[in-house]
Amino acid sequence: MCGIVAYVGKKICQPVLIEGLKRLEYRGYDSAGLAVIGEDGQIAIRRAVGRISVLENKIADSEPLPQATIGMAHTRWATHGAPTETNAHPHLDDQARIALVHNGIIENYTVLRKFLEEKGHTFQSQTDTEVLAVLIGHIYQELKEKNGVHLKPGLSLLGKAVQTALHEVDGTYGIAVLCKEEPDTLVVARKGSPLIIGVGDDEYIVASDAAAIVEHTAQVIYLNDNEMAVLRPESLHTTTIDDVVVSPVIQQLESKLEEYELGDYEHFMLKEIFEQPQAIENCLRGRVDSKEGRITLGGVAGLARELARAKRFILTGQGTAWHAGLVGDYLFEDLAKVVTEATYASEFRYRNPLVEENTVMIAISQSGETADTLAALREAKEKGALALGVVNVVGSTIARETDAGVYLHAGPEIGVASTKAFTCQIATLAMLAIYIGRRRFMSQPQAQELVDGLLAIPDQMRRILSQNQQIREIASRFAGEENWLFLGRGYHYPIALEGALKLKEISYIHAEGMPAAEMKHGPIALISEGMPVVFIATRGYQYDKVISNIEEVRARGGVIIAVATEGDTNITRYSDHVIYIPDTQEPLQPLLSVVPLQLIAYHAAVIRGCNVDKPRNLAKSVTVE
Ligand code: AGP
Repeated sequence: MCGIVAYVGKKICQPVLIEGLKRLEYRGYDSAGLAVIGEDGQIAIRRAVGRISVLENKIADSEPLPQATIGMAHTRWATHGAPTETNAHPHLDDQARIALVHNGIIENYTVLRKFLEEKGHTFQSQTDTEVLAVLIGHIYQELKEKNGVHLKPGLSLLGKAVQTALHEVDGTYGIAVLCKEEPDTLVVARKGSPLIIGVGDDEYIVASDAAAIVEHTAQVIYLNDNEMAVLRPESLHTTTIDDVVVSPVIQQLESKLEEYELGDYEHFMLKEIFEQPQAIENCLRGRVDSKEGRITLGGVAGLARELARAKRFILTGQGTAWHAGLVGDYLFEDLAKVVTEATYASEFRYRNPLVEENTVMIAISQSGETADTLAALREAKEKGALALGVVNVVGSTIARETDAGVYLHAGPEIGVASTKAFTCQIATLAMLAIYIGRRRFMSQPQAQELVDGLLAIPDQMRRILSQNQQIREIASRFAGEENWLFLGRGYHYPIALEGALKLKEISYIHAEGMPAAEMKHGPIALISEGMPVVFIATRGYQYDKVISNIEEVRARGGVIIAVATEGDTNITRYSDHVIYIPDTQEPLQPLLSVVPLQLIAYHAAVIRGCNVDKPRNLAKSVTVE
């Protein structure tokens, strides 16, 4: 997922831009660059392949950048064109008059490029972004040559050129644009790729997400799709790309700077694993009433009757979010007694799914920007479903496109491997299941018991986290093993999948998760002497079945790592290592059984010397198909 940072104001902007890029590193990228307009009115650009530190070295080793108070910067995750310096952003038009950074995809860029080449323009890169820069430059020149161009107050010729160019564009964009002939003007626009405007004292900082803004201001404006802004140090002018003036809505950022910082932790992933008790408390706050056993969800207020009468729920997402959806499938059918399906968004969007009347789609996404999940949401809405979101990032695209939803309040999740967002997704789905269940067949005492169980989860998580060193010891014994199995039944089948994904994505160990019973239908052939097999064997109605599966694995030389319920002395007879977790009702157990698996994956990755927060090939959010 690319990242944009732009600034116009009184400060020398280079440090603001570089620090802003560092705040966006977690999104994943392969090149970076920046552009500033110096007092000489020239645009100075520096770009580099690799980490931001490579860009910093390049800046230090090249001609000093001018002391500019307007500029922009970008981290690129390559889509069109390889990760090279030529393809890195910012891009100039061929007159070196316009500079542009872009997050998104210009789908008709080849048509536009051909048109511009026929007009005599030339290109340096393979990117769709450069085509947009040249198009804006082309239109800017046309407007300059046209007499009497009407500009509404606040708009500039650059703003007009951007508006005109964006009408020619098919696709998605979040852009920032500079023009050397308007050295005090920054133009930004959004369609499908988020942009947030931080409002300071006679200064504005624009970024793809709040991480790059929070240390400068807590006053923000979330640009909506098809909106743009013309920013100068002392003025802000917002319109649609149809030049309809829009009154900006200034909101207060929820997150604080320290939430984006490592603190005393070695990695963001470990910090976020340990933040889970607090994250769950924040997720539940104001939503669960311990006296009445009542759930209050402001985000779906007014939809209670529609949700209670729904005939079917479709829970969708990708990766870890899909695993949360699978837990939600069990929760909704068990607690709300309603037909529910968890489906991969990438499958749902293309299979021409059946969506009957009274169907509710719940899109689950930490970032709120995952392309497949957004597309599945749109497909379900197209077919008439009510669309809810269970999302962490406020103002994200998925959050905006749903009819209603429930924010996680998990706080910023920087580590690529999702942890606290996952447990908050499960807690939120549990609240929704109770909320709907109480409007269907669930009794007040049952709701009360579940609410009490939810409120106990944070301290129970703390008890598990206090075993961190023992869990590290277990992980260290098997970190060299290249094949693991994760097995669970019922509510813990999705947790087995999640444990395997965590291990795969940060330690690069091959791991498979599956229902414990499924092992006998083929995968048992994989069991070899000494192979680590993780079983979730907590108290529950399938416990005895899980013990049988454990014995089948042991008989074939597998080494058993069991996650079990405190007080279970029986499990030690069948296991080589046991990690105990506190007892709770089965529907809530996934909130606890996943925590040891997160820690196992984390420690295995550290022991293997992997880049835990920025695993190879991965981005924090997959905003392209
Ligand atoms: C989880 O650890 C992975 N980083 C990945 O599977 C992630 O959950 C998936 O890409 C969905 O992201 P989202 O929740 O932001 O939509």
